[in-house]
Amino acid sequence: MDNGWPASANAWIADMGEHGDFGRRYVLDPVMLPHALARAPRKALDVGCGEGRFCRMLQRHGIDVTGIDPTPPLLEAAHARDPKGAYIEGTAERLPFPDGTFDLVVSYLTLIDIPDIEAAIPEMARVLAPGGALLIANLNSFNTACIETGWVKGSDGRHLYYPIDNYLEEHSMWIDYRGIRIRNYHRPLSTYMRLLLDAGLRLTYFQEPAPIPGVKPGKAASYRRVPWFLVMEWLKP
Ligand SMILES: C[S@@+](CC[C@H](N)C(=O)[O-])C[C@H]1O[C@@H](n2cnc3c(N)ncnc32)[C@H](O)[C@@H]1O
Repeated sequence: MDNGWPASANAWIADMGEHGDFGRRYVLDPVMLPHALARAPRKALDVGCGEGRFCRMLQRHGIDVTGIDPTPPLLEAAHARDPKGAYIEGTAERLPFPDGTFDLVVSYLTLIDIPDIEAAIPEMARVLAPGGALLIANLNSFNTACIETGWVKGSDGRHLYYPIDNYLEEHSMWIDYRGIRIRNYHRPLSTYMRLLLDAGLRLTYFQEPAPIPGVKPGKAASYRRVPWFLVMEWLKP
């Protein structure tokens, strides 16, 4: 099924630039990178690595990283920026690695892009070694429930709201922004939690990060008003 990624790849790469978009650079990276490094992993997998930005960040800290992604133009960009890096084509639903290969598995804003999440989360847990960690950044489910509607004006015509509706109904939707048009999936938080728990993982960290202080105050305020991101670390016993 078309997910929009091949046609959106160029716009996506331009949007990421060298340092990632606002949410990555000022909200998620400051939480994700220290957590990725905290357990001193040696071998990591970045599931849905895109153009490889987070792989390159981990590599700079001496971690042996493999990136996997189903979108060829994103993988080509990853290779071009990091010719010695390991970037392979594949999906989260069928990871081509033996059990217990990695001591860190990263899913950086990819759960919302993965069609068969019931297959993908057990796969991410399977390729983790005992004692290894699955580090997840995702769009908050309270956000994906209303992302198609976005901000709306209240009845006073002034105040903006971000209305939540049909929260428990899983569905896919097309998201359009800055030349990118991709299919995303809304699932209630309980779907992700159930799959992670059923995979035998143990939650060791949970955060809904705010932007780091002092950066682009107007933009930062909108990230504080509504649920935006969540970050979780799950350990394989
Ligand atoms: C929002 S981007 C995130 C890319 C990168 N992790 C980042 O944060 O910049 C989502 C990525 O998921 C990938 N993707 C789509 N379907 C996937 C699947 N079934 N398994 C793994 N990755 C998938 C897309 O190709 C895209 O690179």
